[in-house]
Amino acid sequence: MNQLVDEAIRVLRANDRGRFTVPSEGLYPHQWLWDSAWIALGWRHLHEARAWQELESLFDAQWPDGMLPHILFREDSTSYFPGPAVWGTPTHPSRPPSSGITQPPVLATVLRRLYEESLDKARARTMAVRLLPRVLAFHRWLYRVRDPQGTGLVAIVHPWESGMDNSPAWDEALLRVPLPEDPDSRQVLDSLQEARRDLRHVDGSQRPTDQEYQRYIALVLHFRTFRYDGARVGREAPFQVVDAGFNALLHRANRDLLALLRAVTGGSRPVGDEGDEAQRSTGDHAEDSAANLHGAIREVEGWLARAEAAWPRLWNDELGLYTSLDRITGRPIPVPTAGGLLPLFAGLPDGERARRLVATIQAWGRHCRFLVPTTAPEHPSFDPLRYWRGPVWVVTNRLLWEAVRDYGHEEPARRIAHDTFALVQKEGFREYYHPETGVGLGGRGFSWSAALVLDWAVQTSR
Ligand code: DGY
Repeated sequence: MNQLVDEAIRVLRANDRGRFTVPSEGLYPHQWLWDSAWIALGWRHLHEARAWQELESLFDAQWPDGMLPHILFREDSTSYFPGPAVWGTPTHPSRPPSSGITQPPVLATVLRRLYEESLDKARARTMAVRLLPRVLAFHRWLYRVRDPQGTGLVAIVHPWESGMDNSPAWDEALLRVPLPEDPDSRQVLDSLQEARRDLRHVDGSQRPTDQEYQRYIALVLHFRTFRYDGARVGREAPFQVVDAGFNALLHRANRDLLALLRAVTGGSRPVGDEGDEAQRSTGDHAEDSAANLHGAIREVEGWLARAEAAWPRLWNDELGLYTSLDRITGRPIPVPTAGGLLPLFAGLPDGERARRLVATIQAWGRHCRFLVPTTAPEHPSFDPLRYWRGPVWVVTNRLLWEAVRDYGHEEPARRIAHDTFALVQKEGFREYYHPETGVGLGGRGFSWSAALVLDWAVQTSR
């Protein structure tokens, strides 16, 4: 175990860029939203201030409307595609260039862990008070532009927003995305094969296909035409999916946000009363005014109540898990993926439904050696090599381990932990792993795998 912890620390240090951490040298040379959030959980065991910095640095690129972009372009690197020139997002002298879409909203969950478990309580309070209004602005943006009808569940407009980029759950909706015909867009799409940088770092059999990349970039080009107007993107995006995984993480984040607001305000005093200085420093976030924060507790309670009423629509009794919903066709997407298990992490299912979900995980475990594959192994779309179509990821395992354990299912939780530690011990901190052979796949020296295992090892050794 000591060797594993030392190796995790070595990976974090190697990928440290001062105020932020790259997910993996070469393959991902910038800062990614949900990567950095989980990475902060690793840093705190080395240097608490550095963990807070990792989290705070994500807000350097927060848009005036509250959006948090999924990539902050930190370096003048040519080893990643699509770079800032393809995204063409609005620039601002005080913000790093960024992508124009978001990623799973896990910040409040990480913020709560840091707040509750940090040794320096005074710093934790200062940081929570400073960051809470910005997290609130992000969640408000999500509900405003991605759930304009007030259904209680938000839509993603790009597979990359799910964080589970090439999940087979997106296949059908992605294929419907029209390829833009204007000359600028055509030029970008025609040169895609040479432009892709990921294939210089990772074998093509482990990455999304060219056909998928064409649609990923087509979506970016559509959003560029919409000038990244959030409301317009939310209304007119040709890909709109109510992702079970994204919404589960949002629900969990709202529960954590509520706990933090109550803790910081003493249950009644509005956080804005203390956060004035921090709010002034975020300047253009009109929503961060103290007046708006007065209602934050009730507002978050409202999001939680609406989502709880909406969630039963996503349950698929035949598959024994939750599935996503295509918002454009109104049809469920009956593809069993790990995202459909994540409502466990949000505490959404009752005891009986949780038992069904755990039984689903156990059934998957009878078909492959290492839990938890990211797609059901018996499903026709399962691919044990390709990115999110089957391989095991440390991040999903870490969340499902905690969730399964918290629902009282000790034995399956132990197996998830055992399989994860066996994989990292055997192959090191890779981006993902083959669920049958255990071979490490994708990027090497992967920051969130290292950070989450470090945090997990410390947590279970207490
Ligand atoms: C990639 O380029 O594969 C990223 O995951 C997109 O965010």
